[in-house]
Amino acid sequence: MTGPAADSADAGQRPELTGLEHDFEGTIASERRIEPRDWMPDAYRKTMIRQIAQHAHSEIIGMQPEGNWVTRAPSLRRKAILLAKVQDEAGHGLYLYSAAETLGADREDLTNRLITGAQKYSSIFNYPTLTFADVGVIGWLVDGAAICNQVPLCRSSYGPYARAMIRICKEESFHQRQGYELLLTMMRGTEAQREMVQDATNRWWWPSLMMFGPPDAASPNTEQSMRWRIKRHTNDELRQRFVDMTVPQAEALGVTLPDPQLRWNDTRGNYDFGAVDWDEFKRVVSGNGPCNAQRIAHRRAAHEDGAWVREAAAAHAAKRSEAAA
Ligand SMILES: [Fe+2]
Ligand SMILES: [Fe+2]
Repeated sequence: MTGPAADSADAGQRPELTGLEHDFEGTIASERRIEPRDWMPDAYRKTMIRQIAQHAHSEIIGMQPEGNWVTRAPSLRRKAILLAKVQDEAGHGLYLYSAAETLGADREDLTNRLITGAQKYSSIFNYPTLTFADVGVIGWLVDGAAICNQVPLCRSSYGPYARAMIRICKEESFHQRQGYELLLTMMRGTEAQREMVQDATNRWWWPSLMMFGPPDAASPNTEQSMRWRIKRHTNDELRQRFVDMTVPQAEALGVTLPDPQLRWNDTRGNYDFGAVDWDEFKRVVSGNGPCNAQRIAHRRAAHEDGAWVREAAAAHAAKRSEAAA
């Protein structure tokens, strides 16, 4: 952070700001990045840690629904693709935990918060994957929604997060295309395969729209996050962008999106769509979705099973630093 106070949009209007606050706001106003060494308000640090941790947890938990199909992929090619995709999600989780560490968060503490339910992850991963078509639909819709959410985050004001997002978005776009290609292949297959694709689309469409979070009117943190340029668009703007992008893809694929109110609005220049069931969203977010307990139990077991690896690594590191001393 190097900006002189005069760069700040608020310079002169907020006499109560300290020099450090002026520098922080100046950096944000001039579209430069806040870096780990820079001073930042506590509330900004806390918001960033919460958002990055929640994002990291989502990547890690997000491995489970698709990982469920690795052993049952219908061909070696599909298995290799799916393994690569699931492995990418692990990588995304690790970049993001590292980004959270640059803010002073402790990785062990973040993991504990995940497995005790103190921190959340995206509610989309609390739905089950019933057939192999779900793998395709997750790539198409869930990774597609993630891209809509994450592309603007490449310009997020916190440097390490913005830079992690650039690489993550490149991989997400591979995920989205592999899902769509899988669905195109199934749609060219048998009637039963086409029905599987339609059924998976019916089940994942509405939860995908929920991925953008509650409507703007019910999203109290949005305003502050926009002011700090952590967020660039509101939840409703991003949801609309996703719908507009996805409808033509559904048409090309030959599936029907399960919303009778979905139609082009010439005046708005956007698609109109039906109301999301926010009660369902609240139920799933608060722990009562179809797979919440299973996802956390699985993550907890993996963490406990890995204890010996962490202990061995710590013992090895201690031995090396002893030898070097
Ligand atoms: Fe990811
Ligand atoms: Fe992904």
